Amino acid sequence: MYIEENVPLAPLTTFNIGGPARFFVRVQSLDDLREAIDFAKEKKLKVLALGGGSNTLADDVGFPGLVLKMDMLGVELIAGDGDSSILVAGAGESWDAVVARAIARGLWGIENLSGIPGTVGAAPVQNIGAYGAEAKDALVWVEAFHIQTGRITRFEKSECKFSYRMSLFKKNPGIYFITRVAFLLHRKGTPNISYRDLSEFFTGNAAPTLQEIRDAILSIRARKFPDLSKEGTAGSFFLNPIVSAEKAMQLRERFPDLPSYPAETGAKVSLAWLLDHALHVRGMRIGGARLFEKQPLIIVADRGTSSCDVYALADSVIEKMRDVLNIKVETEVQKVF
Ligand code: EPU
Repeated sequence: MYIEENVPLAPLTTFNIGGPARFFVRVQSLDDLREAIDFAKEKKLKVLALGGGSNTLADDVGFPGLVLKMDMLGVELIAGDGDSSILVAGAGESWDAVVARAIARGLWGIENLSGIPGTVGAAPVQNIGAYGAEAKDALVWVEAFHIQTGRITRFEKSECKFSYRMSLFKKNPGIYFITRVAFLLHRKGTPNISYRDLSEFFTGNAAPTLQEIRDAILSIRARKFPDLSKEGTAGSFFLNPIVSAEKAMQLRERFPDLPSYPAETGAKVSLAWLLDHALHVRGMRIGGARLFEKQPLIIVADRGTSSCDVYALADSVIEKMRDVLNIKVETEVQKVF
């Protein structure tokens, strides 16, 4: 294991923003992980796990601790009874490569999560979700290393405290380091195409194949997401707000076209819609950061943008939502400083 010093974080994140990590190490095995944690404890350093860096905004000043780039690989398919299989993947595997592999084997369960950048280990941290599916739907267990005890624990789905873009692991940053994740997949599946973009895409085709669903999602995403080879982004920067049932009713009276969905408490309302049609801030820019023209929930950054511009833009959105609509908006992206 080789610990590097003063490694720039910008190229390790899809935002392409951020100063250096004081210490940096690529973790490829459990032994590497233990050694790295011992190093951090000895030097009393903060520790940060980094996957694909696709949901991370690193500060211009960098990170004063140890960054662990989680590179543990390996994919195993275990045939279960009947039509089911368990797919176990190392935290460092590319999420989308694992999805593509499941689809190539004719296995249903994670196809709606096609095209999401990042790693397998990051998927449960924020319970990634898109097109009517969430990681938790197919997940069976998460294996994680606990920084204090040094033990590897297997968390069953029910122990992971999953909710909308939230988990036990996200609630306790720097405590758990995910090493492997298992998903339950099926040979016989039913297309989950009720999400509006998908049902529109499949008008006249009620039973698309796995590959057709993947292709549809990749093409929908290509229309709505920035081109990472040209500019930086971490996808949705904000969470869709969950408001009380009463507030949702008031909003629907005022904005009859506002998309909203039932949530654990009240209703989840579309922030992209509100930013677009109520606040008219699509494309709003501060310095090198702007709300993406095709999807204002997404912040995009020109090359060389400062983290301060992104924070200022995010704060401005949060303030406007509070002052104009009295809605509390929270950010989704992991901030590193
Ligand atoms: N909309 C507008 N104007 C726009 C864009 C969208 O009014 O310019 C409205 C449309 O009415 C649309 C609605 O907003 O129906 C919702 O948009 P979209 O389908 O893009 O979904 P979202 O709720 O904005 C969420 C996830 C995305 C995920 C998509 C697709 C969050 C925070 N974001 O966005 O996840 O890809 O659904 O299912 O829940 C991410 O987490 O980084 C991410 C990209």
